[in-house]
Amino acid sequence: MSVHSGPRKVSINTLMNIKREGGKFSCLTAYDFCSAHSVSAAGVEVILIGDSLGMVVQGHDSSLPVTIEDMAYHVRCARRGNQGSLLMADLPFMSYYSEQKTLESAAILMRDGAQMVKLEGGAWLSESTRLLTERGIPVCAHMGLTPQSVNHLGGYRVQGRDPNKAQEIIDEAKILEQAGASLLLLECVPVELGRRVSEALAVPVIGIGAGPHTDGQIMVWHDLLGLYPGKPAKFVKNYLAATGGSVTDAIRAFDQAVKDGSFPAPEHCYE
Ligand code: KIV
Repeated sequence: MSVHSGPRKVSINTLMNIKREGGKFSCLTAYDFCSAHSVSAAGVEVILIGDSLGMVVQGHDSSLPVTIEDMAYHVRCARRGNQGSLLMADLPFMSYYSEQKTLESAAILMRDGAQMVKLEGGAWLSESTRLLTERGIPVCAHMGLTPQSVNHLGGYRVQGRDPNKAQEIIDEAKILEQAGASLLLLECVPVELGRRVSEALAVPVIGIGAGPHTDGQIMVWHDLLGLYPGKPAKFVKNYLAATGGSVTDAIRAFDQAVKDGSFPAPEHCYE
């Protein structure tokens, strides 16, 4: 047996290889030991400790109240359950308003066990993205619907329907890739824009409500299991109800559906 063999360990390179080979990968949020363990053990490539925890764990009506201390706590909880998935963590609202602040906030999450950080925004983040990657901190850019800007956007709405805005998203995504971003998460955009962004970038694109053409798909743990009260977004599928089985069956069904291309189906997409 090789000394290098051991449990599966997903890295950015793993995701790049999946994209190069035309495959798909799955991602789920997790915020604690048990959810991270279930997600990871089921073979999901990426775990996001998302600031969506402000809504699904803390019960706020947005992610804005989430602090860097909250994020750090959940990163520490989730990392203990992780079985080799790539652990990505959100920089929360106002934790990256300057370049210095960005480095300090990212360092906190990386020391606690995150393997990459995610920042919401476009080209204005290019210098911070460059600084982080030059210092060895991988970056996922988050574009399209950026929930930390919900007040500026006027609600949780589909982004990039207007052709000029769509082109702006593509252009700014390329700027962030140039600056060093090694992943892009694209939220709530029409199917065609999801396809165009994924084709325009060499780095993998993860979609949520961005259609079936992105390289990966992500869902919030509580949505996958139908735990969040209220009307789910169009891009949500309750896999626990769909499989009628256990939580493990639900995660496996999601992972399988992402990889065989059957999720998202047209009813989960914006035309
Ligand atoms: O915070 C989060 O969970 C996210 C997902 C909605 C992609 O950013």
